[in-house]
Amino acid sequence: MERSLPMTEPMPGLPDRVTIYEVGPRDGLQNEKASVPVEVKAEFVRRLLGAGLETVELTSFVPRRWVPQLGDAEELLDLLGGVGLGRHRPVLVPNEKGLDRALERGVSSVAIFGSATETFARRNLNRSVEESVEMFAPVVTRALDAGAWVRAYVSMCFGDPWEGPVPVQQVVDACCRLMDLGCDQLSIGDTIGVGTPGHVLRLLDALEDAGIGTESTAVHFHDTYGQALANTTAALRRGVRVVDASTGGLGGCPYAKSATGNLATEDLVWALDGLGIEHGVDLDALVATSAWMAEQLGRPAPSRVVRALSG
Ligand code: HMG
Ligand code: MG
Repeated sequence: MERSLPMTEPMPGLPDRVTIYEVGPRDGLQNEKASVPVEVKAEFVRRLLGAGLETVELTSFVPRRWVPQLGDAEELLDLLGGVGLGRHRPVLVPNEKGLDRALERGVSSVAIFGSATETFARRNLNRSVEESVEMFAPVVTRALDAGAWVRAYVSMCFGDPWEGPVPVQQVVDACCRLMDLGCDQLSIGDTIGVGTPGHVLRLLDALEDAGIGTESTAVHFHDTYGQALANTTAALRRGVRVVDASTGGLGGCPYAKSATGNLATEDLVWALDGLGIEHGVDLDALVATSAWMAEQLGRPAPSRVVRALSG
């Protein structure tokens, strides 16, 4: 069968190039109930890199008790060797203990992860927003002193399953508190996928007014309500150049039940190809990776593009 391709038709106001920040091995797998063997995770990472993804978030240095699936962070880094290190292989670290574990493995790119809401901060970090900033402060200082690159995620930027809609100013305050610690990049998380394009623009404008420009902001959309791609296009038009995505559309958060898969990397690549935006990724290799991963997980990938192209 002939392979479909989108027709390339650029749209005004969009960038020439976008950086895809792949979160499949971390966000994609953290919610999987059945334990995925560490060798499979390492192979997943190698295949993603082989498909041309430059930035791949690998895992989280959190207690095994909190996220059992990622309890093998050290083993994964050991298996990956040199390909698992460097500025483009970030890992999540919640606290100094996590940072110590990561630095000991030679990691030089880390992400802290805060919350715009009190309920999710409590559930995900066992702390208030205030206490979590206190937890992150020495992590960021020490990571920067060690020469690491630091990303700050903020979750529940568009809505929270327990608190409902989250006021834009509350989100901006949470983002500013983490960026004021000295982080290099902010990633605004729509953890439960409820955002829509106008809301995205409103938040990006409010962040800009608060001194956090789109040059240091990434977007992290979960696709629960099918809005991730529309939201991404809106963000790109406003100047965002880094987009988080998960190969196959895997993903979710064990501490927010309504969080489903991330924006699928294949769906993003399809859209970028159609818009004539460079990204450096081989779509066929990604789809093959998702098909392979689906065999490992025992169920098909949620991505629409994967389904359309693997038929
Ligand atoms: P806690 O239980 O309050 O931790 O958890 P603690 O400091 O009281 O320590 C308790 C025990 O854990 C101690 O051991 C520590 O040493 C140990 P004990 O003395 O009892 O034997 N410990 C650790 N062990 C290994 N590694 C560590 C570590 N830290 C403490 N790093 C904590 C607090 C923050 C650690 C916990 O709440 C946690 O790990 N939370 C993370 C949960 C998580 O990973 N969620 C998913 C990622 S966030 C997400 O997916 C959203 C995102 O995608 C964006 C979006 O979509 O919005 C990023
Ligand atoms: Mg996420």
